[in-house]
Amino acid sequence: MIADVVLGLQHGDEAKGKITHQLCSKGNYTHVIRFNGGCNAGHTIYHEGKKFVTHHIPAGVFYGIESIIGPGCVIDPEQFFKEIEELEEAGIAASTLVSIAKNAHVITSSHKDEDSKDTKIGTTKRGNGPAYRDKYNRSGVRAEDTPCLKEYIIDIYEELYSKDGVEILFEGAQGFGLDIDHGDYPYVTSSHCTSAAALLSGVPPQAIRKVWGVAKIYETYVGAKTFQPKGDVFNAIQLIGEEFGATTGRKRQCNWTNLDTLLKAVRMNGVTDLVFNKMDVLREVGEWKFKNKDKLLNFQDENQVKSWITSFFSNSPTVSNVYFSGNKDRI
Ligand code: IMP
Ligand code: MG
Repeated sequence: MIADVVLGLQHGDEAKGKITHQLCSKGNYTHVIRFNGGCNAGHTIYHEGKKFVTHHIPAGVFYGIESIIGPGCVIDPEQFFKEIEELEEAGIAASTLVSIAKNAHVITSSHKDEDSKDTKIGTTKRGNGPAYRDKYNRSGVRAEDTPCLKEYIIDIYEELYSKDGVEILFEGAQGFGLDIDHGDYPYVTSSHCTSAAALLSGVPPQAIRKVWGVAKIYETYVGAKTFQPKGDVFNAIQLIGEEFGATTGRKRQCNWTNLDTLLKAVRMNGVTDLVFNKMDVLREVGEWKFKNKDKLLNFQDENQVKSWITSFFSNSPTVSNVYFSGNKDRI
């Protein structure tokens, strides 16, 4: 068994969907597995010139690859069927490719009601926190016990261990800065967003080949805490970067990338391939700055940024490749 992982290194919205989509188009993957989160995620994908936003459904469906909602996920059946329908209407054969691990947990309407009253964290109000709480309280509802999901249910052990040549692409949701353990608690999501979480789906650590760590060249965050500093430049980044939540439409707060926390994320996730997206945005904004050890680093131009960042991360033993992208469709 071979597995690659795609995960977010910041606070979600790093354009992981784009990377997953691109990797699916080229790889020999037999399965794409979402390993955490629920429909709080909003993965924007441009497929054959058309824009899609997926919440539950892994990007494997765009390329005819078996796509599993893994045991670390929580699933809202209503949203799940809505998404299947939308994809099918757009000509993507989602219903035959998607399956749900029987031990994934279900987001119920009472979870959504409860989450809709949140004011403290600034959640997406999709019921995630309450669903995970009930899972760990051992009072939750599993997908296998939900009649409407019956035809989609699989046993992940049977699926992955009864055939040879299994190659998995793990699709992460949210990001390291929102991770329940390593993020800025309590301003976090309720699931694990690290490469370790991919393994929780039931694959051995030895299977991991590459870890694609995805970042933006600047940072964004959506939620209740104050994240964006004062200054017109951050409003410019927000505007030019079209930084609105794909799930909730909320404005994303913007800041310069903190290289210290990014380095921590790279190390703790064992990132092999590091991607910086949205270079085109800072190019248009015309400012290149980064936070590093309480200093603000200021660069003159894009080439200087690329060589400095590449050398900064070349000290991380796991990193083999650093990519910079300024394109919505691909790296
Ligand atoms: P929850 O995951 O809906 O409980 O929200 C907890 C925090 O994570 C809030 O700050 C959300 O805005 C944030 N969050 C959850 N999912 C995403 C995502 O996919 N992208 C960006 N932020 C997210
Ligand atoms: Mg998103």
